Amino acid sequence: MSKQAVKSQAANRKPSADKLERKVKALLAKMTLAEKIGQMTLFTAMWAETGPTIDRNFMQYVREGRCGSIFNAYTADYTRSLQKVAVEETRLGIPLLFGFDVIHGHRTIFPIPLGEACSWDLALMEKSARIAATEAAAEGIHWTFAPMVDIARDPRWGRVAEGAGEDVWLGCRIAEARVRGFQGEDLTADDTVLACAKHFAAYGGAEAGRDYNIVDVSERTLAETYLPPFKACVDANVRTFMPAFNEIAGVPCTASRALLTETLRHKWGFTGVVATDYTAINELVPHGVAADLTQAGQLAIEAGVDMDMQGGVYFTQLEALVNAGKVSPAAIDEAVRRILRVKAELGLFEDPYRYCCEKREKRLILSPGHKAAAQKTAEKSLVLLQNEDNALPFAKNLRSLAVIGPLAKSQLELLGNWYGAGDGKEVVSVDAALRAKLGEKVQITTVEGCDIDGEDASQLKAAVAAARKADAVLLVLGERGNMSGEASCRVDIDLPGLQNRLAEEVAAAARGKPFAAVLFNGRPLAIGRLTKAVPSILEAWFPGTMGGQAVAEAIFGDTNPSGKLVMSFPRHTGQIPIYYAAKNTGRPISNEKYTSKYLDCPNTPLFVFGHGLSYTTFSYGPLRLSATEMPKRGKITAAIKVTNTGNCAGEEVVQLYLRDLVACVTRPLKELKGFKKINIKPGASAEVKFTITAADLAFVGPDLEPLVEAGEFEVMIGGSSSAPVGGRFTLLPAG
Ligand code: GLC
Repeated sequence: MSKQAVKSQAANRKPSADKLERKVKALLAKMTLAEKIGQMTLFTAMWAETGPTIDRNFMQYVREGRCGSIFNAYTADYTRSLQKVAVEETRLGIPLLFGFDVIHGHRTIFPIPLGEACSWDLALMEKSARIAATEAAAEGIHWTFAPMVDIARDPRWGRVAEGAGEDVWLGCRIAEARVRGFQGEDLTADDTVLACAKHFAAYGGAEAGRDYNIVDVSERTLAETYLPPFKACVDANVRTFMPAFNEIAGVPCTASRALLTETLRHKWGFTGVVATDYTAINELVPHGVAADLTQAGQLAIEAGVDMDMQGGVYFTQLEALVNAGKVSPAAIDEAVRRILRVKAELGLFEDPYRYCCEKREKRLILSPGHKAAAQKTAEKSLVLLQNEDNALPFAKNLRSLAVIGPLAKSQLELLGNWYGAGDGKEVVSVDAALRAKLGEKVQITTVEGCDIDGEDASQLKAAVAAARKADAVLLVLGERGNMSGEASCRVDIDLPGLQNRLAEEVAAAARGKPFAAVLFNGRPLAIGRLTKAVPSILEAWFPGTMGGQAVAEAIFGDTNPSGKLVMSFPRHTGQIPIYYAAKNTGRPISNEKYTSKYLDCPNTPLFVFGHGLSYTTFSYGPLRLSATEMPKRGKITAAIKVTNTGNCAGEEVVQLYLRDLVACVTRPLKELKGFKKINIKPGASAEVKFTITAADLAFVGPDLEPLVEAGEFEVMIGGSSSAPVGGRFTLLPAG
């Protein structure tokens, strides 16, 4: 069916805005207060544990019309059974909304979001969200609690795994792509789901990288760093928001009217639903801003929270608050109107069972096409961190290969965290994928060598012996999947356990032969020891269902890694927070004593934002600007020639950075403002052009509003954030 035909079919199916509003208004008029509060109540069906387990008799509450949404339930069969209760056994038959954490795939699991972001391929990320939505919708899910768009610069915080890294501009682009992927063009289609911008806001700024800890940032940092990706979600028409657990400067987000109403609704014009994080209203009591659940409920509704996830506070407190005149019926009606509206936007009132379809389930779940897409995404997410002496790729004419490490045979670990309905049994381990790829030609010896984070050294000798006998050695190292994600922070972000010792002892036996390491991890790691012991390191993140095959293809050169880091890798945990878009300070580092530096570590990271090697090499010609002056309404083109100077085709992410040299507030040394991922054949060159306009030069002014100021700007274009200054131009004053 042509795109035009699909659009017109969708247009016919989509209820007109007026008709939808009339439907919602008419239904609202029939509802009792108890039924309205029911719509504001979301309970878990406990098919997944995503928070402190509070046993709730959710089925009874659904039957009584006192629970209007369910999360952690899936499959067409199960969601239909719950939907039947709501539609056929309650007084008004209002359909349930089914939510679930479809974070990086539903049954076909894609790389964790931090890994997928390293592909720098927005179309690919939109497609993976599209596939995730298609599989989730086929199993009765209407709403995913994704994308997580928290900017994060502290890899001790386990939830960096769920986001898109440290950069604001890239974070906005990826947020938009993921919202588009989940929601598609038409929410009434049976393969699109509501997306949810989370966690609003500044959750990535948790003090000391410890989950749920306080966030104490300036209004400026909030406006410059943490809010933009959420605004990008609103601009991409995201239909739900989830406030963060944390406080910001003394006010928990769940109780922040400034955030949830004044900024989100009045300033940004968001019209969707705000649903709390798991029991976050209850947590206003331990936060110390509510004396009891009654006050907590009042604070939340006054802040602008429409739906209470799992806490049961609206469920138990709201009716009395309204009857006591402490909460206005109008506030209740406004929240319920928003909830009924998104249910109507999904077409649930026309057909509550539209998403429960076993036929679609069977056809779509883990389909060959979905698995192929997952493998391609995993391949594009691989980041070649170092490759001394071009140890990678391994030659295929090896006679023997030693595969050593605690993750060599791992399956479930490759799914990482938040894998939801994913199944580790669907995963092919690196060891199995290598054996399938190489067949009998190559004798593979596999030794785990040590645990992921244990202290048992009894297998080290066997590992060294295997390395000594083999033609080539591949280490498979990293973290357990649950060492990142929610409530999974680490104070020391080097490889855990005895893995460094394993790498160093194997290195002695692997000297003079092809020797590399693959990393599976959910955060940047301070792997200084590993970089000294192993010449080649391939970062694979947690690559998902098809991750083993993706790694095997890359190790033997059938694919060429093209990923680039979206988060800096520290040399040492002590450098954190560390990020490329840093300020110069008044005493920038130099050999002088009194400058901003450490006595015991460089200021630079181990691997910078935007870093990633290839099996080929690229050279950059001189940067050329179309002019050295730009009128305020004008534009300038920056062009550069990129040449593949190696002997195989490869993709390069050409990155554009700008620096505002002097402004009314301090500005970073450089900021990413564009990129292009291009495939270049060996010996060939490509001309890459970027158009720069005043919009690219805007920053948060003293009044915290966008500002463009005349002045000098430096331009950098290259294959990472270490790109040198290649040009300079002046933005002329207006007029
Ligand atoms: C969790 C997470 C949130 C998730 C929610 C529902 O506590 O903070 O990201 O969407 O609960 O599972």
